[in-house]
Amino acid sequence: MTNIGFGIDIGGSGIKGAKVDLSTGEFIGDRIKILTPKPATPEAVAATVAEIVQQAEWEGPVGITIPAVVRGGVALTAANIDPSWVGTDCNELFAGVLGDREISVLNDADAAGLAEVNFGDPRAKEGAVILLTFGTGIGSALLIDGVLFPNSELGHMMVDGAEAESFASSAAKDREELSYGKWAKRVNTVLAEYERLFWPSLFIAGGGISRKAEKWIPKLEVDTPVVPAELRNRAGIVGAAMAVAGHVHP
Ligand code: BGC
Repeated sequence: MTNIGFGIDIGGSGIKGAKVDLSTGEFIGDRIKILTPKPATPEAVAATVAEIVQQAEWEGPVGITIPAVVRGGVALTAANIDPSWVGTDCNELFAGVLGDREISVLNDADAAGLAEVNFGDPRAKEGAVILLTFGTGIGSALLIDGVLFPNSELGHMMVDGAEAESFASSAAKDREELSYGKWAKRVNTVLAEYERLFWPSLFIAGGGISRKAEKWIPKLEVDTPVVPAELRNRAGIVGAAMAVAGHVHP
């Protein structure tokens, strides 16, 4: 019998969910996407999450990613989401709309890391690896032999006097209309700083912009190899589904 899970990825523009084949990391059926409500308060987002689960006619456990630090089920930061998330008990919030079932809420980049370890590049589970997601912010997953050190927030590290994600996210590239070359230089500055402090054996670059990897990864000049994530857009949903199936409750 197929081992099926369900994951939901909460992003700044869309909230996406799908059934996931947990033995292959592939979606089963269509991915459901609903625009993120504005303002994206916990209550409004929870209502959208419930709508997705209902549309999918899914009654089992649900894994959910949010772009924030989650510890003990509580969101502790809100860099790119509504500030009212800080202090929200996510387990309670989602249990309120999804009822009595297992729910796991975790950071979006951590979920992408879990997904990559299980279904992506085999090097993701070898040694000290940093997976980064380039999007509205920069998310990070610190991995050691495939095991996650949760809630690293490397996008907020100060690099050259500013938070890394403020000048090297893909949103910064769009906002400032940077060429791939100019943006890659900024990414390089950030990676060089991570390299200097963490000495990983590999960087894995995820997020939407990893689909255009050939346009910027070859321009990077750090010593550590950089490879594009294999899971790309699927990573958040797959990682969320896996987290709840594995009873991961950060
Ligand atoms: C948040 C992280 C998140 C990343 C990617 C950052 O601004 O602080 O928690 O993983 O954006 O969404």
